[in-house]
Amino acid sequence: MFPRLATWLLIWFGITFPAYPAAKQWPQGTTTRFYDFKIQTTRVNKLCNSNEIVTVNNMFPGPVVYAQEGDRLIIKVTNLSPYNATIHWHGVRQILSCWFDGPSYITQCPITPGQSFTYEFTMVKQRGTFFWHAHVSWLRATVYGALIVYPKAGVPYPFPFPYEEHIIILGEYWSQDIVQLERQVIASGGVPPPANAYTINGHPGPNYNCSTNADVYKIDLVPGKTYLLRLINAGLNTENFFAIANHKLTIVEADAEYTKPFTTDRVMLGPGQTLNVLVKADQPIARYSMAIGPYISARNAQFQNITSVAYFQYSGAVPSSLSLPARLPNINDNLAVKTVMDGLKGLNTKDDVPKEIDATLFLTIGLNVNKCRSPTPQQNCQASMNNISFIKPTVSVLESYYKGFEDYFTPDFPAAPLRFYDFVNGAPNSAPNDTNAMNGTRTKVIEYGTRVQIILQDTGTVTTENHPIHLHGYSFYVVGYGSGNYNPQTANLNLVDPPYMNTIGVPVGGWAAIRFKADNPGVWFIHCHFDLHQSWGLATALIVKNGVGHLETLPHPPADLPRC
Ligand code: C2O
Repeated sequence: MFPRLATWLLIWFGITFPAYPAAKQWPQGTTTRFYDFKIQTTRVNKLCNSNEIVTVNNMFPGPVVYAQEGDRLIIKVTNLSPYNATIHWHGVRQILSCWFDGPSYITQCPITPGQSFTYEFTMVKQRGTFFWHAHVSWLRATVYGALIVYPKAGVPYPFPFPYEEHIIILGEYWSQDIVQLERQVIASGGVPPPANAYTINGHPGPNYNCSTNADVYKIDLVPGKTYLLRLINAGLNTENFFAIANHKLTIVEADAEYTKPFTTDRVMLGPGQTLNVLVKADQPIARYSMAIGPYISARNAQFQNITSVAYFQYSGAVPSSLSLPARLPNINDNLAVKTVMDGLKGLNTKDDVPKEIDATLFLTIGLNVNKCRSPTPQQNCQASMNNISFIKPTVSVLESYYKGFEDYFTPDFPAAPLRFYDFVNGAPNSAPNDTNAMNGTRTKVIEYGTRVQIILQDTGTVTTENHPIHLHGYSFYVVGYGSGNYNPQTANLNLVDPPYMNTIGVPVGGWAAIRFKADNPGVWFIHCHFDLHQSWGLATALIVKNGVGHLETLPHPPADLPRC
């Protein structure tokens, strides 16, 4: 699907428009690449049903955006769908371009039906596997695609050049209107029904009804060659294991940053995570399964238990032959997750890991025993950070902050929970551990240049769970993680070669410590990348102030910024 030659031709000679007038914002890329996104409804046949889904350019998954490090991307997004929309460029650090980050009501108001908005940003010192997705309601279920950024011309990968590369996007597919489903679920409380299928590049694969022949993704292999797989989990609410029958995976990149090569039988990706793995076609000629299945760390969760399969097929294999099954871990195999996490190390020794810290945020993350804010809630539907359930405002936080409006958010998000107790095992809501959540659009304001440490602490209220926590506007060093309650005396920190990530699966019933220097002004959302938990309020926003001079100051908003 993405042959090597075509890809490189596209990159070297492809979409370059040298005559574009100089952009007004620093930094400018070397090349400017234009894309046109039309968000629209598209009829698809899947799982024995015909459904209307929202897509970009009638493609599912959506179009791949290609760029090179240093390039400027200009993407005009026109909303022809009946729903509000925005697009987020997941993992792009958006240096001095927070207006184009995309989370609805955080950095912009939604693009309403019929409107358009042009996103403009530069891939500053970033290359690797990213993705883009809708960042409004639960539209990400079908509105997502890959964003692939190659190194600068002449800069090699830090691993042998693969024979071919393939994008593998994991998703979850519902055979019903996802925006309507969201409205029902949020009104009633409780959780949505499990997805009707997991998908690989939009295909449920042969284990699902009506998908056996046509709705399967396949990679054709030349024996002996090495393949680069760019894995992306765009799924809404499920973390996934990925494995290929009889083949090893060598991780070389995580969240678009190179890692030391680490070889394993399987990997786990939470929603929002990307991994590049090398796979050598060194097995007997046959058809093998590439499979994804759920990693479920919460207690009593319902989930889809049919795995999604794609084919990893050697040339010369009998096309109709059965595929050799991939071995996925058990759904609650926490050790399999930890093993991969332990194997992730930054490629080089990192000199810029903050050794000293100016500010620490201690954030409890988890669910709460509270009814929804709807008139007729039946079941619980809240989640929080530090027991504050984030309410999206009606005007974006960035616009309010920039224009000095005072009514839409408050700057009083607490740097630590009100009380410290045994977060993991302490019984919920029993005195003195009041774990009822408060609602609010409460944000944390940070001075430019602050060296920040955030401790993310899972709680056992309702259930412990591995939450994929994503920070916008930055990558962060994952300097430590562990099980149980965080204890600064015993926590083991890696300040030498930690992985540099944008989404961290905080261990179930455990904690993770991340560090970064707050040198990118703007309003940056930090949230659980399960859309359900995001809707329930497991989020907050960090406001990073301007520094000194224009290289440390967020420029003015673009003229076409959507209005609320
Ligand atoms: Cu990939 Cu705020 O999201």
